[in-house]
Amino acid sequence: MAYTVPQLTDYSAVALEKAAGECVGACSSEAAEVRSDADLKAFRDRWLARKNGILTQINDVWLKGAPKEAKRGAGMRVNGVKTAVEDIIDKAEYIRLELSTATSGAVDISLPGIRRPIGAEHPVIRTTHEIVGVFQKLGYSVAEGPVVETDYYNFEALNFPPNHPARDTQDTLFIAGQQAKPQRERLLLRTHTSPVQIRTMEKMRPPIRIVIPGTVHRNDPPDASHSPMFHQIEGLAVDTNITFGDLKGTLDHAMKALFGSSVKTHFRPSFFPFTEPSAELYVTCFICGGSGRRGPDPCRPCKQTGWIEVLGCGMVDPNVFEFVKDTGYDPKKVSGFAFGMGVDRLALLKYGVDDLQYFFQGDVRFLQQFD
Ligand code: DAH
Repeated sequence: MAYTVPQLTDYSAVALEKAAGECVGACSSEAAEVRSDADLKAFRDRWLARKNGILTQINDVWLKGAPKEAKRGAGMRVNGVKTAVEDIIDKAEYIRLELSTATSGAVDISLPGIRRPIGAEHPVIRTTHEIVGVFQKLGYSVAEGPVVETDYYNFEALNFPPNHPARDTQDTLFIAGQQAKPQRERLLLRTHTSPVQIRTMEKMRPPIRIVIPGTVHRNDPPDASHSPMFHQIEGLAVDTNITFGDLKGTLDHAMKALFGSSVKTHFRPSFFPFTEPSAELYVTCFICGGSGRRGPDPCRPCKQTGWIEVLGCGMVDPNVFEFVKDTGYDPKKVSGFAFGMGVDRLALLKYGVDDLQYFFQGDVRFLQQFD
């Protein structure tokens, strides 16, 4: 029996979902029956015709007929059905085009064009651009480096000596079959963007101010808050007489530019081999405003503390400058600060996304929400 649009009397979420499911299911089954160009045209017209096509009917019958309080829910369902039906029809057209090209060897230019769904700038990329933009306004340039790195740049020149326990914290993915090489030449997937600090200082004499966006890898199984691939932005400023005060002022300004001028910053001592002293930077939780609560409920993103950790930072360790002394980084003459932040986590918080994996599944329906 051919599908017809039913009248709805029950506008509950369950009933709407059932009606939407039946409609999309019917469209799928009909798509599977398309055998010829004529079938395709009939199928397309039946669903998409402005006048009395099934999508138009759904709009008229389900949406216009909905009681006032159910309009919103019904509207969302109708939109969902529209997108799903359009996707099914696109796919049917594509398959038909492939088949007709394969059998006739020619392209039928009279067939309707294929609509490619347009996404939106990915939230991680958007957040990266925002952060980089803040530092560009402060006079920073952008540097990049390779994702496949050597042990030397990822560890040794950043003051992680061979066998240093701090290497364990990085859950490194090594490239296989490198044992014959000396340790410093062995390849790995960079675990942070910090190696580009060294690569840039090898090429550019001081003073420098750079930010380094990029992907990094760690041996972390994927879950709602972890991914074996994620994104970082590194920063480095080196000049004569750079102090911890410069570090604090710069990062405080950057956090206010990113999260709003009412945000407060807070530094806690930490350890990184390549900075001394080192700190972690916290900002007042931009979800609960620092109260630790959301109405009667505890604030989850900041675990009720009112503070969110956003990055690691510190003054560049003189041992790091020793590795790039030849290009003018004499630790007795220059000083600098560095920082590194995880972009994905910031994007999650900023856009209220509850599962990191959505960022990496490439589902255009997820992306379209950020349009
Ligand atoms: N590279 C560190 C990490 O991935 C983050 C970091 C901390 C970078 C302190 C820095 C820094 O430049 O100064 O865990």
